[in-house]
Order: sequence, then structure tokens, then C-alpha cells
Amino acid sequence: MSTSKKRFSIIGCGRVGVSLAVFLSSGGFEPAAFFSRTRESALFARDMACRGQVADDALTAARAADIVFITTPDTLIEPVCTALAQDGGFGPESRVFHLSGALSSDILAAAQDQGAAVGSIHPLQAFTPYEKGQGNPFKNINMSVEGRGEAVMLGQGIVAALGARSFTVPTDAKTLYHASAVVASNYLVTVEDFALRLLMETGLDENRAYEILEPLIQGTLANIRNKGCTRALTGPVARGDHEIVSRHLTDIDARMPQFSKLYRLLGEHTLDITRRGDGLDKKAEQRLSRLFSGK
Ligand SMILES: NC(=O)c1ccc[n+]([C@@H]2O[C@H](COP(=O)([O-])OP(=O)(O)OC[C@H]3O[C@@H](n4cnc5c(N)ncnc54)[C@H](OP(=O)(O)O)[C@@H]3O)[C@@H](O)[C@H]2O)c1
Repeated sequence: MSTSKKRFSIIGCGRVGVSLAVFLSSGGFEPAAFFSRTRESALFARDMACRGQVADDALTAARAADIVFITTPDTLIEPVCTALAQDGGFGPESRVFHLSGALSSDILAAAQDQGAAVGSIHPLQAFTPYEKGQGNPFKNINMSVEGRGEAVMLGQGIVAALGARSFTVPTDAKTLYHASAVVASNYLVTVEDFALRLLMETGLDENRAYEILEPLIQGTLANIRNKGCTRALTGPVARGDHEIVSRHLTDIDARMPQFSKLYRLLGEHTLDITRRGDGLDKKAEQRLSRLFSGK
């Protein structure tokens, strides 16, 4: 890659935009220009990255570099990109990226129509506003890369320069990828909250309930890592013990009916996991299935 190809601009100098500018600069890329909704944010980004110009408008920033990162809020990426493309902000040398997890590079189609290679790189990380001298939030995290043409290889190079690990996702599977991240993180919170509410119903406060469950949670994660989900599964469903499950349901239905549906749904999926493993005795499986489906 030539030196000029390593020059980048940031449009949208918020939590991700500033961190990206700082750690891409220290990773060997050259910041060319910064533009944000407010001049203060662009100035802050430039000061933290120590190089580059504060642009008066997005078009100036886009034209100042071959690599353009649009790090505005998700809903603005497409309109910002389209406006820039209409104004001649991109050409065949341009490489345009966004960092959204939920959206693919399809939303950068207007830049692609101008000959640009477009892609998305998504850090599986929660970013807070950048503070001077802070550690690198990209270090050793996983980042998906998706895009068209040269953008994929360049995206992988950018991820490596940030100190992260890349893996590629097909453009048409970006939404599934994001759903996976939501289930792995957000819905894990939901499941653990469900477990805590059940234990709190026995008379414990939330902190104590968490202290009690934490070794079990950590042990389960370690089992998933070491053995995979199918072999990590223990408990009454894995044993085919429908009587215990039936008692759970009786008490949950009576005392915490708001969780009845969730317990049954999770149970049905847990039964599917046993089918992928050694399976259960046919009768036990049918009884459990009836308990979960209510039929
Ligand atoms: N935060 C995370 O944990 C995280 C993690 C992974 C991926 N992402 C992705 O990273 C991207 C940026 O998210 P973020 O959390 O950094 O958002 P953010 O902190 O809200 O920053 C967005 C920035 O965009 C600027 N902006 C708004 N409208 C603009 C416009 N029309 N033109 C130029 N700049 C504009 C804002 O500028 P002013 O400051 O000047 O108002 C703001 O600084 C999103 O695609 C998000 O999905 C975020």
C-alpha cells in the first residue's frame, strides 16, 4: 500500500471516531482531516491524534484522504455518504468505511457508484468518550470486516494496525452477525437477570444472589469454552428429568408467572441441544417437549 493510501479522514468525531483516529495514527496511518457536526468535536479529535486538519465541511474532509471513515450515528451514515457522493466527494481511489455492527456496506452504495471500494469494520467493544492517555480499546478485541473489492483486504490491514483481530462476514450475513452479538451479550444479561429474579424470590437481595450464582456462571462459560455447548449442558433437561422440570414450572407459574413463557421457550431450545448430542430416552424427550410446549 502506498503512503498516500494510508491517509484517512474521520467524519463524525464521537466515541468511536476519536479512538479510531488516535490508534490508527499510532498504528502507522496518517490522519488527514476531521469533520464533525460541531467544530469542538473535530478539534478535540485532531488534538488527540496530534496531526491533520479540521475541515470546514464533510466534503473537504472526504477529499483530503483516500480512506474515509463515516463514524456518525448509524442513522446518519447513509445520508452523509449519499450527500458526499452527490457532491463528488469520492472517486475510484476512495475507500469508504463505517463502523456500525448492525448495518452492512450496502448503505455506502452511493460511494460505490462513484467507483469507491466500500466496507464496514465493526469492533466488538463498548466505547466510552476518549480520554487523553487512555489505553487502546481496540487492543486484542475481535472486529468483523465486510465489504466489496479492495475494501476487505484494506479493512483487515486497518484492524491489524489497530491491534485487533479480524474475521470476515459476508455482506448479506451482516444482520445475522449482529443478531449473534446481541444474543451473546444482551440476551445473556436477560437470562442472568431471570436467574437472579428467581433466586431473589427465595428472599435474597440482588448482590447476594449474584455472589451465589457467579461461580456457576463462570464455570458454565469455562465448560462452553472447553467442551462446546452440547457437552457443556448439564441439569434436568440434559438428564431427561421431566419431574423436576414439572416442579419448576408449577412454582414459576404460581409465583412468578411473568417468567413462565421464557422458561418454557428456553427449555424447548435446551431440548434441541440435547438432540444434537447423545439425545434422550424417547419417552423422557416427549414428556419434556409436552411440558415446554404446553400441549
Ligand atoms: N460506542 C460504541 O460502543 C460503538 C461500538 C461499536 C460500533 N459503534 C459504531 O460507531 C459509530 C459511531 O458511534 P459512536 O458511539 O462513536 O457515536 P457518538 O459518540 O454519538 O459519535 C457520533 C459523532 O457523529 C457526529 N455527527 C452527528 N451528526 C453528524 C453529521 N451530520 N456530520 C458529521 N458528524 C456528525 C457527532 O458530532 P458532535 O460531537 O460534533 O455532535 C458525534 O461526535 C456508529 O456507527 C456505531 O454503531 C459504536
